[in-house]
Amino acid sequence: MIQIKRAFNTVFNKQYPCPQGMLGYLAGELMVRQHETETAWTVAMADVQPTDSVLEIGFGAGKAIQLLADKTPRGSVAGIDRSDIMVRRARVRNGRAVSAGRVTLLQGEAAHLLFAPQQFDKVISIHTVYFWSEPATIFAEIYRVLKPGGVCIITFTTGKADETGLGHFQAILEEQMLPDMRTIGFTEASIKQGPIARNYKNVAVWGRK
Ligand SMILES: C[S@@+](CC[C@H](N)C(=O)[O-])C[C@H]1O[C@@H](n2cnc3c(N)ncnc32)[C@H](O)[C@@H]1O
Repeated sequence: MIQIKRAFNTVFNKQYPCPQGMLGYLAGELMVRQHETETAWTVAMADVQPTDSVLEIGFGAGKAIQLLADKTPRGSVAGIDRSDIMVRRARVRNGRAVSAGRVTLLQGEAAHLLFAPQQFDKVISIHTVYFWSEPATIFAEIYRVLKPGGVCIITFTTGKADETGLGHFQAILEEQMLPDMRTIGFTEASIKQGPIARNYKNVAVWGRK
């Protein structure tokens, strides 16, 4: 039984950097359930207002996009993800808001955000930072598309709840990401401790332009 579970996890984990085909579709739906707690936490922390303009980077199957759209009846939500199957799935999940022009979902790379300068009040991203090959470039892009005073929240796990010491990503966070953000120009850059979900610790990098 343990071996079956391990094989299952191996197959799906390979999809997470860029879901593709039918397996990618299934992985996207699995992530909607797996990431429910930290998705709700991130959206709540963003304190989204009805007229806000919000961007999500790496939206996967589009659950957070749906939560954001519900909170912005007089605003707008945009998303960018490099996976074509995730773009298609998230467009279906958010079909009504996409048709109404309140949600725009594009295929593209986080390092080249296809949006105008100072377009967004909030930028969020959940469980994507592990796949960022150029974090400083991506933070510079986030800075570019944020309005002055706008906020970004980048949520990820730093390891299992029972692990002690700094995990790999916690070290990257403190030694690389926060200093990069301050160099780029963020006026505030800090770490928020998040919920433990499925026995993993979650944190967010929180930045204000
Ligand atoms: C692990 S999934 C997380 C999906 C969703 N945020 C969630 O929590 O369920 C990572 C998603 O980010 C996308 N992604 C990863 N790196 C990216 C990049 N550099 N630019 C754009 N999308 C990226 C992948 O295609 C995938 O849909």
